Amino acid sequence: MCGIIGYIGKEKCIPKIISGLEALEYRGYDSAGIAYIKNNKVIIKKEKGKIINLKNNLNFDEETYLGIGHTRWATHGEANKVNAHPHNIGKWTIVHNGIIENYAELKLELLDKGYTFKSNTDTEVACAKLDDLYKDEKDILKTLKKATTIFKGSYAFGIICSDDSSNLYAIRNTSPLIIATSDEGNFIASDVPAILNYTNKYILLDDCEIAKISNNSINIYNSSLEEIKKDILTFEGSMEVAAKNGYEHFMLKEINEQDKVFKDTINFYFDGTIDSLKNNFSFLDKYKKIDIVACGSAYHTGLIGKYLIENYANIPVNVEVASEYRYKKCFYDKDTLVILVSQSGETADTLAALRKAKDDNIDTLAIVNVIGSSIAREADKVIYIKAGCEIAVATTKAYTAQLAIFSLITTYLGFINKIIDEYELTNLLDDFKKMPKEIKKIIDDYKKYFDIADKIFKNKQIFFIGRGIDYAISMEASLKLKEISYINSVAYQAGELKHGTISLIEKNTPVIAIATDKKLYEKTVSNIKEVKSRGANVILVSNQLPDDKFYDDLILIPQIHPILVSILTIIPLQLLAYKVAKNNNCDIDKPRNLAKSVTVE
Ligand code: G6P
Repeated sequence: MCGIIGYIGKEKCIPKIISGLEALEYRGYDSAGIAYIKNNKVIIKKEKGKIINLKNNLNFDEETYLGIGHTRWATHGEANKVNAHPHNIGKWTIVHNGIIENYAELKLELLDKGYTFKSNTDTEVACAKLDDLYKDEKDILKTLKKATTIFKGSYAFGIICSDDSSNLYAIRNTSPLIIATSDEGNFIASDVPAILNYTNKYILLDDCEIAKISNNSINIYNSSLEEIKKDILTFEGSMEVAAKNGYEHFMLKEINEQDKVFKDTINFYFDGTIDSLKNNFSFLDKYKKIDIVACGSAYHTGLIGKYLIENYANIPVNVEVASEYRYKKCFYDKDTLVILVSQSGETADTLAALRKAKDDNIDTLAIVNVIGSSIAREADKVIYIKAGCEIAVATTKAYTAQLAIFSLITTYLGFINKIIDEYELTNLLDDFKKMPKEIKKIIDDYKKYFDIADKIFKNKQIFFIGRGIDYAISMEASLKLKEISYINSVAYQAGELKHGTISLIEKNTPVIAIATDKKLYEKTVSNIKEVKSRGANVILVSNQLPDDKFYDDLILIPQIHPILVSILTIIPLQLLAYKVAKNNNCDIDKPRNLAKSVTVE
């Protein structure tokens, strides 16, 4: 949520800051701004809207070698030019990711002291507070140290103080921040993709640490202002992953990568033998209960995980949205494992839920995509999915990779808990091997799903129904559709529709009915007939070929073990959502009001 970048070095800073911001635009895109030092003066430029608006108003050849930039996802104050970062008060100019929770209190105190504010942001208040503290401390590092004891909430700040135009400063608490180093200069950034055009060497700044960065040195201080040594890490990926490679949108590219992502994720933990699963997952043996905690699509994978683990491993699983879990009474104990699922590894609520479990001495496992992210670093154990860099705000390949991990965990636990026998295990292991080809076939059949999308894209609302695991898949399919197409879509348990929502069904209302669970198939078919007889346009998504034509369109899912079926089922629905959004001319990779990484509560 909000992306920040800074550069100080031998080369002109504007091109570097803009290229970094473009790589961070997935974190927010309602306004963007830059501050740079030229002839010892700070110059600030900002624009409402996407980075391109800012870019069009900049001179890339400007003789400036120190600057900070920001792409915003509004929290305090509407998305306009005044509220855009950087903010400046006195000698201080800052960019901020996060929320200063005590800003209202600080603002009153600063207003009393005579400060005035142009924006509605918490960031401008933080900037004024730095200026205020500096008057007493008269030293930049001491001011920053003091600020870390005063600011409450989450923050990563990139900071320029005009008394020192040879250094860039940064502090953080909870919100992510890296410092990257190259022969041409040094960077600060919210995330690794921002710097990959220039370097892959970086340092992770931890909470309450202070960074002082010049063109050829990086000094990090702890909260007592003692200098500390930090490891320089190497990012092994490349910038190529962040290119569209001929696809019209990142979302389409990422949908198309799912066969490979599934293969990479599975192969990392599983060589076709149960021994490999034992080696990777035997730490799970001792748990009698599991809590899965996540947000958004990651929460939906947790719902599928629950269904699989309960049914195939006989372990009770509780799944909760992280923003609720972090404040609720938890009934966990030493036999409970709390699993946090997060693509980014930085989602504020998921991180808070992790910290709550850790404070209560409960074991934690993170299922994460981004290596070295906060959730990955803080959990007791981490299982990385191998989705690579995901750029589109609406997740597709990371969702599939999370399901791949739940499928592996379920297979392992199901076998050791003797619910899956040797015979079923052999079939299941064969199906794991078949999966990449099956995924690829579905993707190659995209025209079928696009044709269905062409029939329904003008509708104002679209329903999804399913039972059991099919309801969990419906929730993700419905989220995918509504978040990128802005069409109102709701997922219902198929049997629940008649208790109210069926009144919304009228002639031609699309109802996408998912029925892959053989045990519940007939029950779901009855519910489908109820909506069909009220005029619904039914799109059936099933692995059964019905004898009776109670649907309008059919998406047939290949036969596969039920532990794997949800992965094959979501892909046509991702493609359908994509085409509905495209037909409606929506900004598919950057849907309005959303951000990929939600680092605020
Ligand atoms: C945002 C994204 C969703 C994502 C959710 C959780 O809302 O738009 O696609 O599922 O955050 O993100 P995480 O990084 O924790 O998986």
